[in-house]
Amino acid sequence: RAAWTGVYERTFIAVKPDGVHRRLVGEIIRRFEKKGFHLVGMKLVQPSEPLLKEHYWGLRQKPFFSGLIEYMRSGPVVAMVWQGLDVVKMARRMLGETDPADSLPGTIRGDFCMEVGRNVIHGSDSVKMAQREISLWFNPDELICWENSSQPWRY
Ligand code: PPS
Repeated sequence: RAAWTGVYERTFIAVKPDGVHRRLVGEIIRRFEKKGFHLVGMKLVQPSEPLLKEHYWGLRQKPFFSGLIEYMRSGPVVAMVWQGLDVVKMARRMLGETDPADSLPGTIRGDFCMEVGRNVIHGSDSVKMAQREISLWFNPDELICWENSSQPWRY
């Protein structure tokens, strides 16, 4: 089993511009912390168009592509990397469905938004995508390696 999977699995999470403007960053971080995941990277960024186009490359043929890029460029985004057991799958469950109308209460989208075009948060949909998205948004030296921490008793 590669170090990337299992307990050291990582996912990319972004609080989208509507989430930042609506002051939901703290609430979202609180949920991930209380669940037990480790924060290994975080920054507030104004994403460039090339970065966003690369990030959403797989959706370039979709009719909503340009609107999605425009929305994501409209304000700062809080980019984060979270680590823990099965974090990719569990984070997606915490986010809820892509369309907030299909998201159960208790999920982030189920609790805080109404439309797919303003759905507050992004989370990687697979371990492979997480790896790709993390390397797109973060330099390796921006990520903390807890397993090599000099104070392992804390975690
Ligand atoms: S799809 O159509 O199945 O590929 O879409 P999906 O995988 O569910 O969603 C991929 C991302 O596209 C966003 N999305 C939209 N944005 C704006 N308008 C519409 N109609 C729309 N439909 C999907 C969706 O929020 C996903 O963004 P991320 O950032 O990955 O959550």
